[in-house]
Amino acid sequence: MSKRRPLISGNWKMNLNHFEAIQAVQKLAYRLSPDDHKAVDVSVHPPFTDLRSVQTVLESDDIPIALGAQSCHWAESGAYTGEVSPVMLAKLNVAYVIVGHSERRQLFGETDTVVAAKLRAVLAHGMTPILAVGETLEQREEAMAEATVTSQLQAAFTGTSADDGDGGQVPPARPLTAHQVGQLVIAYEPIWAIGTGRTATPDDAQVMCSTIRSTVADQAGKEVAGSLRVQYGGSCTPANAPDLLAQADIDGALVGGASLDPDSFAKIVQSVPRA
Ligand code: 13P
Repeated sequence: MSKRRPLISGNWKMNLNHFEAIQAVQKLAYRLSPDDHKAVDVSVHPPFTDLRSVQTVLESDDIPIALGAQSCHWAESGAYTGEVSPVMLAKLNVAYVIVGHSERRQLFGETDTVVAAKLRAVLAHGMTPILAVGETLEQREEAMAEATVTSQLQAAFTGTSADDGDGGQVPPARPLTAHQVGQLVIAYEPIWAIGTGRTATPDDAQVMCSTIRSTVADQAGKEVAGSLRVQYGGSCTPANAPDLLAQADIDGALVGGASLDPDSFAKIVQSVPRA
């Protein structure tokens, strides 16, 4: 199995205006050492209105933190009031785009079909999708956590899903090739752990991340599965990160609340086990 390079990503959600964003990224850069960057990939995912400002800081100061976005539309351009296209993100040197975050799925009606379309759009424009999957508390209590996540992954990989509520608007998606699957990052984010202060135990998170890797192996082969990065997300903090990140199948974290504080986020980056 190939050695996977950890990725710690900060999802700022709808927080920090562009002035605050500049400060946050400068503070973060100051707290991370060349050794940290040697061992770990780091990305920040500010709101759309901050992207250009953060890009300018990162590029003018040569800061090795990757720029990420939180979502994007599937189309390159068109009559989609309020949306942001993958072409626009690629032009800002955005490297990673979160796709299928549970807040998008639950609060903004993103179905598996929409997620599949966005995933392909991000790949088509040379960016890396961070595909987020995860179960509700109810699904976990009904012992459906693994089945839920597997079905979200299969829908994303094959482009076909049971949901059909998009009125034919969303373009049909072809199955991803094994090569394309290998370009993804997958984030396991149990919905009950997001913003709740309730984290999955390291053992539970490991079981789910291992299930994700097996599902990838079924779709794209063992080699792809062995090199694909799987993140954990959900109330990740400097206190719980070391145990989570020590798990065999957890290759990083997708951090919400704690990523808004550069000190906390830097500590999470620094808790990745080093060789
Ligand atoms: P919290 O770390 O605030 O629980 O958010 C996790 C998350 O949703 C990251 O995408």
